[in-house]
Amino acid sequence: MKKLLLAVGARPNFMKMAPLYSVLAREHSFNPVIVHTGQHYDYEMSKAFFEDLKLPRPHHHLDAGSGTHAVQTAKIMIAFEKVIDAETPDLVVVFGDVNSTVACSITAKKCRVRVAHVEAGLRSFDDSMPEEINRKVTDSISDLLFTHSEDADRNLVNEGVSRKKIHRVGNIMIDSICTVAGSIDSARGDKILQHFGVTNGNYSLITLHRPCNVDRKERLAQTLDVLRRIAKKCTVLFPMHPRTRKNIEEFGIEITDDERLRIMEPLTYREFIVLEKNARFVLTDSGGIQEETTFFHVPCLTLRPNTERPVTIEKGTNELIDIDSAEEMVVRVLDGKWKKGEIPELWDGGAAERITEILRET
Ligand code: UD1
Repeated sequence: MKKLLLAVGARPNFMKMAPLYSVLAREHSFNPVIVHTGQHYDYEMSKAFFEDLKLPRPHHHLDAGSGTHAVQTAKIMIAFEKVIDAETPDLVVVFGDVNSTVACSITAKKCRVRVAHVEAGLRSFDDSMPEEINRKVTDSISDLLFTHSEDADRNLVNEGVSRKKIHRVGNIMIDSICTVAGSIDSARGDKILQHFGVTNGNYSLITLHRPCNVDRKERLAQTLDVLRRIAKKCTVLFPMHPRTRKNIEEFGIEITDDERLRIMEPLTYREFIVLEKNARFVLTDSGGIQEETTFFHVPCLTLRPNTERPVTIEKGTNELIDIDSAEEMVVRVLDGKWKKGEIPELWDGGAAERITEILRET
């Protein structure tokens, strides 16, 4: 039996791990063990996702919590090394590009345990993003690189990675979307919309948490001003990330929540999926949401100068925008002048099965 540690820590990791855990747990030849680093610890950022994704309680919880990048990464490494010593796994699987990803991959490699990286090869070519450093370091030491698009394969090959390590398996986040969206019938979906006081296509959904958008006072205040203007054209639902909320409070920015601009706590996975699928458009700086909106054919306006997910622009519904052009782009969407997009190859709900097949052979 192969023992696999599945290491996760932050919200965007959970929906990438859940489909793999569920396939591996069904197989007699694998013993999957979930390790939660505790990078995200609020109920809405973590436990609510475990519940929606029908994951068991993590077998290990490292309680790393917040801190500077060095502090957070170091705390995770110290605690994860002890888990590796105790569990002696055959393989550590890491997901995405958060601090937990890089911390656990480095620790595993130094303990001479093989590492598999799910969602490998993405590059924004912008080293000012902490995630870009995490991606490059993790990919450079991983033994198995599971990718979801041709551009990811190309990035790895360009960095000198052997083709033998690269396996294009598709987008595992779409596996979770398919399972969870498939379990919500239209009556339940309508109930969720009703709960938020909206109907199909008559509102927009906003998420913002990247340091480049929320860590400077002037920039954050300007962005919130623009959102207020957008809300006059189309109701805005704005589930607010703790980082953004904390900064608004610390900067002393006034923000009033009203019928048109609705500020809310972070949503559960099920709620978010339903609101995303039925939104007129989504404005975001998230990575994963660019992919989910492409899957749902919902217009996505990404408030960033670059993306590590270019396939969502080339094939999907995504466009990069800057804050000065945001309102104009919203008008384009509302006038029906947005591309329809298509779903990239292998974003079909079968990624976890394909990964498991490869893990069986290696
Ligand atoms: C992290 C990831 C980012 C991902 C995001 C999704 C890194 C470098 N960044 O960013 O890629 O898109 O998660 O959410 O790993 N906080 C809470 N409760 C929580 C978690 C965080 O209040 O459950 C607050 C803390 O004050 C913390 C701040 O939010 O200092 C930022 O959290 P952190 O995990 O450091 O980074 P994120 O901004 O969430």
